[in-house]
Amino acid sequence: MIAAYSATSQARVNAALESLFTAPGPELARLYEAMRYSVMNGGKRVRPLLAYAACEALGGKAEQANGAACAVELIHAYSLVHDDLPAMDDDDLRRGLPTTHKKFDEACAILAGDGLQSLAFSALLDPRLNTSDAEIRLQMVRALALAAGPAGMVGGQAIDLGSVGLKLDQKALEYMHRHKTGALIEVSVKLGALASGRAEKDELKSLKNYALAIGLAFQVQDDILDVESDTETLGKRQGADIARDKPTYPALLGLDHAKAYALELRDQALHALRPFDAAAEPLRDLARYIVDRRN
Ligand code: IPE
Ligand code: IPE
Ligand code: MG
Ligand code: MG
Ligand code: MG
Repeated sequence: MIAAYSATSQARVNAALESLFTAPGPELARLYEAMRYSVMNGGKRVRPLLAYAACEALGGKAEQANGAACAVELIHAYSLVHDDLPAMDDDDLRRGLPTTHKKFDEACAILAGDGLQSLAFSALLDPRLNTSDAEIRLQMVRALALAAGPAGMVGGQAIDLGSVGLKLDQKALEYMHRHKTGALIEVSVKLGALASGRAEKDELKSLKNYALAIGLAFQVQDDILDVESDTETLGKRQGADIARDKPTYPALLGLDHAKAYALELRDQALHALRPFDAAAEPLRDLARYIVDRRN
């Protein structure tokens, strides 16, 4: 089920994303090529899948969430381009390919990241990709700005980089993970729900509880995979967190406890979806997938 849902959703978001990388002139060919390279390079597309699945859980059609799906993947891709820079995690491999600054150069990677961030907001405001309801679009832009910015992902990244070599307690680690990864996962679900045009307050609250749990679970699993997967499967360097003395869940709790915690978070997410019917099955599958995945 998840495999078929993923394949359809990945094809849908990839087609919508592909339309965004046409350079307006030859002067900008390299910048656009670097942006395209950073997005159209595989990637599991978990955030777009969540947006589509949330839209469908509320009875919307997946296509309605195309703008949301593109926007969250573009912010995600930008965050990865910058995360891999020498000044940050200094990684050479991403999605099985050279990182953007290796393939192009550092300045180009910084600008490509900047460009992708702006493109995300353009995608949300693009009438071909998103609802024509101006009120909903405004709500979506505000939610994405909050989640991506200093009170969300960027804030989490700042804490991550400021914590290298430190021993964070579980509360501090959770705070960091909820920001650097959870915020964007949470907003993926929210934007998908809003795109359905049918989101009621109670449903948004349940979906938020679902997203909070899987957002944290996602980064806990990412930390686990850094320990026990391999570079080939991951498409990024295994052991990079350990090598850099990053604060992670396995480092704090031990591998077994980190795994148990990921499963507990998955169950919390499934519990939050109790009020939903079979239309929320893809969301349930995604919660299971997030803690079962091997890359
Ligand atoms: C990796 O995200 C970075 C984190 C936020 C943990 P993904 O595991 O979703 O990476 P891709 O998009 O599939 O490459
Ligand atoms: C990245 O966390 C989170 C963001 C990019 C916002 P990581 O640094 O753990 O991601 P990977 O492991 O490099 O994909
Ligand atoms: Mg990082
Ligand atoms: Mg990293
Ligand atoms: Mg990681």
